[in-house]
Amino acid sequence: MRVMDEEKDVLVLAIESSCDETAAAVVKNGREVLSNIISSQIELHKLYGGVVPEIASRKHIEKINQVIEEALRTAGVTLGDIDAIGVTYGPGLVGALLVGVAEAKAISYATNIPLVGVHHIEGHISANFIENKELEPPFPCLVVSGGHTHLVVVEDYGKYRILGRTRDDAAGEAFDKVARAIGLGYPGGPKIDSLAKEGNAEAISFPKAHVADAPYDFSFSGLKSAVLNYLNGCRMRGEEISRADVAASFQKAVVDVLVEHSMMAAEEFGFDRLAIAGGVASNSALREAMSRACEKRRIKFYYPSPILCTDNAAMIGAAAYYEYRNGTRSGLDLNAVPNLKLGER
Ligand code: KG4
Ligand code: ZN
Repeated sequence: MRVMDEEKDVLVLAIESSCDETAAAVVKNGREVLSNIISSQIELHKLYGGVVPEIASRKHIEKINQVIEEALRTAGVTLGDIDAIGVTYGPGLVGALLVGVAEAKAISYATNIPLVGVHHIEGHISANFIENKELEPPFPCLVVSGGHTHLVVVEDYGKYRILGRTRDDAAGEAFDKVARAIGLGYPGGPKIDSLAKEGNAEAISFPKAHVADAPYDFSFSGLKSAVLNYLNGCRMRGEEISRADVAASFQKAVVDVLVEHSMMAAEEFGFDRLAIAGGVASNSALREAMSRACEKRRIKFYYPSPILCTDNAAMIGAAAYYEYRNGTRSGLDLNAVPNLKLGER
């Protein structure tokens, strides 16, 4: 059995396959990325306007060995150098998750390298540790992705308090649905982000939903319906639609609520720093607005590079390292848990 030594470097081989990226990475001591290989299936799913789970699983099977080999080769290491295998086991698409989990278990079984199951959202949050070496818990983090919208306090490594979450659509899901409605295709987030730069964010007043009695919760389905109603209204009246204005105004409505809730949390709990994570965290309007709001309040703002915001395995490696250090070990009975809750094991 391997004995954990505080002084010794810990190399994690991380695997991520929860949605439409097949990814593997080698991460040293949770913060240094030696390799980060991502094989994206976006081109494939674009044809269908969204991720097709069956196709995603099949593609993961085709790519996973290749991606892992490349991650090891790029890092200049072999499995003999690896101390732990971190793998996303939830939440996500069950068939997609199973590919990564089965692969990680097979490698662990064959090599005796300890296995560490990682929560996907914990991975997104941990992406912040990679480029910000000084960042340590506690801090609040806004997690905004295609499947999740959570405002959490990272109390310690692996310890989270959820302040608020979405009641319906995730922020990224709203971006994708609105993008589809204005004919921008999949994935909609980055497309709305760039089109919005040409539009007027004040042109259309879309609602900013607040949830009664749950000030930190989010709701985006009303906003999505308001955009659809606006588009229908214009079409019925024969009015020309400025897609750029719709994109900019919709984006502003989302960003305003995200920033407002995050500032409320930082102020209520007296934090002088704040982080964002997840695919939507790469949105340029969100980064700018959050940065301005933080500056005004003298809050230090942390955000990962865009490549570490969207799904990748380096973030899983960072999270796995802290779980490993905390003593978390998964057995060969580790299973994919599509609706795994943050903080659950
Ligand atoms: O974190 P992620 O890669 O996957 C999930 O865990 O869901 O997030 C993907 C989501 C998609 O909904 C995509 O449209 C959105 O993140 N996204 C963006 C941007 N880049 C990706 N949304 C807004 N602006 C962006 N620049
Ligand atoms: Zn994700």
